[in-house]
Amino acid sequence: MNNKILVTGGTGYIGSHTVVELQEAGYEVVVVDDLSNSGIEVLDNIQKISGKKPAFEKFDLSDREKAEDFFKRNTDIEAIIHFAASKAVGESVEKPLHYYRNNLVSLMNLLDCQLKFNIQHIVFSSSCTVYGQPDKLPVTEDTPRKDAESPYGNTKRVNEDILNDTIKAHPQLKGIALRYFNPIGAHPSALIGELPLGVPQNLVPFITQTAAGIREELKVFGDDYDTPDGSAIRDYINVVDLAKAHVVAIERLLHEKNKQNYEVFNLGTGQGVSVLEMVNGFEKATGVKLNYKIVGRRAGDIEKIWADTTFANEELGWKAEKDLEETLLSAWEWEKKVRKI
Ligand code: NAD
Ligand code: WQD
Repeated sequence: MNNKILVTGGTGYIGSHTVVELQEAGYEVVVVDDLSNSGIEVLDNIQKISGKKPAFEKFDLSDREKAEDFFKRNTDIEAIIHFAASKAVGESVEKPLHYYRNNLVSLMNLLDCQLKFNIQHIVFSSSCTVYGQPDKLPVTEDTPRKDAESPYGNTKRVNEDILNDTIKAHPQLKGIALRYFNPIGAHPSALIGELPLGVPQNLVPFITQTAAGIREELKVFGDDYDTPDGSAIRDYINVVDLAKAHVVAIERLLHEKNKQNYEVFNLGTGQGVSVLEMVNGFEKATGVKLNYKIVGRRAGDIEKIWADTTFANEELGWKAEKDLEETLLSAWEWEKKVRKI
């Protein structure tokens, strides 16, 4: 029998790409999602890619009774990949209690159920947001975490601590926290991708929606940063590369290759790219001209960050493979498919 993996948030952006990679690696997947930020049709599109529709249950993981009931009925789960969370930084400032409750309680419920139903392994979606603006670049996993800029960012930091402390107290549990840098792009089939509700807050969906004529112009937030072209720098990682890292992390846990019960890995490309380089890269990759304007800095933005990926490269044996143009083209192909362009 194949190993069965629970993917929470598996109809979401990164989760759906990870479900495909897990299935292609031979895992059986069960998805739990409350569909608060994704649609049920994603399951059919996963099936079109992999040939297999994952099992699915719709419920809110912050509901303890529902979570317990699920695990009572699914006794053969060997590992959990926990993507499910609310993730909009701006919204988290307006609705902090919703963010703390959803993101913290969901993880705590899962950990309780792991102990109760004896499920050893968990991979947790963390974020480079835990580093804030680091003093030294690139950031390694040992770079000190900073006070979060937002309640969302704080949930990642606190969830890392909840996971670490719980594993310390219960050494039968093994966990890996993956700190994603900026995930972008879509599956090369253009059957799954990122579908932001309303006006996108993130750069690449805003770029593709501008190119599609849904947004009038892209606002480039700031050209007076201490960077070569003055615009802010991030480490943009292809979502399929990112998804593959989860398969490697699961294999590490299931085959007991982990060196510590709780481990943390940066997942990025190791390359810093500026906003203006992203704009130019998009135009070059797609041949579409972008209407953009430079405006003031966005409140709360950091100036520059990119990952030192040595630990993931050497210890996980994982490396980002896709280049930026291919990735930006995949984001555009997905936007065109969604908008029927
Ligand atoms: P997403 O919103 O596309 O996916 C999250 C999924 O979780 C959604 O389908 C949503 O419906 C579901 N969900 C939310 N709360 C739930 C709950 N209580 N119970 C059940 N389902 C619930 O987000 P994503 O971009 O795929 O992000 C996945 C994870 O990665 C999140 O934890 C996010 O914080 C983290 N992350 C994302 C980014 C990014 O830029 N996209 C960067 C770093 C970390
Ligand atoms: C990237 C760059 C913007 C939109 C956020 C979260 C972080 C993480 C990833 C989850 C910045 C600039 C953007 C636009 C622009 N998520 N930009 N015009 O800010 O790195 O991080 O998402 O954990 O927690 O804070 O990503 O895509 O919003 O911005 O100029 O319309 O693009 O100023 O420099 P960011 P982003």
